[in-house]
Amino acid sequence: MMEITSRTQVVGVFADPVEHTLSPPMQNAAFGAMGIPYAYVPWHVKAADLPAAVEAVRALSLAGVNVTIPHKVAVMGLLDEIAPIARLIGAVNTIENRSGRLIGHNTDAPGFLRSLTEEAGVEPASQHVLILGAGGAARAIAVQMVLAGARLVTVANRTESKAAELCRHLQDVAGSELSGNRFTQLSSVPLDAQDPEFQAAVATADILINTTAVGMYPKHDVPPLVPADLLRPKLLVCDIVYTPQRTTLLKAAEQAGCRTLPGLGMLAYQGAIAIEIWTGRKAPVAVMKEALLGALKQRDPGV
Ligand code: ATR
Repeated sequence: MMEITSRTQVVGVFADPVEHTLSPPMQNAAFGAMGIPYAYVPWHVKAADLPAAVEAVRALSLAGVNVTIPHKVAVMGLLDEIAPIARLIGAVNTIENRSGRLIGHNTDAPGFLRSLTEEAGVEPASQHVLILGAGGAARAIAVQMVLAGARLVTVANRTESKAAELCRHLQDVAGSELSGNRFTQLSSVPLDAQDPEFQAAVATADILINTTAVGMYPKHDVPPLVPADLLRPKLLVCDIVYTPQRTTLLKAAEQAGCRTLPGLGMLAYQGAIAIEIWTGRKAPVAVMKEALLGALKQRDPGV
């Protein structure tokens, strides 16, 4: 931990609950490796106190903060400006304080994209991307995949009406200027391994991404949402769940001979992009991943 002085820039995360956040060890390791005087603090902020906490970012001239559950949507109404991608995603996880003007960003989805391109070496452009889930995390990743020029995005959800609703939103995203007018086709299917439409989507997908919490510790010992016999070796299977690192889905994917991308990378890259927004400097992702692994082992031994 770096010495705290009058030059120290305090950043951190607003969350409720805050006990389980892995961001402080990850971000402080990054600042230490970068040799810059920043300290990252977890703040327990209840929903009713969010407006005052955001006001404190201005009053204390903080460089910025992260916000997480349950504040990612509510915080949008408290900021001066929302970055276009964050607006399409409908959630903010990073606030930048630009001389008292508070700007909301979303680094979760760009974090996933960087994990995909840098760790798996896969570009979504022209690919068929199959997304499991239609909640907040699915929406963020799906928007990013459309903006990155995916050829076809299929949303598979247990409640199919929510998948269809997300597709309607993605249609608007695909038609927006930000998509560079690249044409992305959209479809929704039930998330059901017995369903022929779902099976067909799995058979033709290039990239499959689980955005649901199915398989997350401590309920990790469950059947995978997609059984190994539906998976084909050409498929890249990604899971945003990172506890355990090898989820039930990733194990099935390995069994089927698929390449896999665990969720830890997305967590590291979303933090790296936040640091890059606040400092204007490149963040040391390898150091951050190592710090995350250490913190995870300490928090959940055996995971
Ligand atoms: P998040 O912000 O993490 O995405 P969310 O918005 O509550 O969380 O969305 C949770 C997603 O996980 C939903 O798509 C949900 O499916 P439903 O819309 O049918 O509820 C999905 N999900 C949660 N538990 C699931 C389960 N056991 N099987 C399949 N999907 C599940």
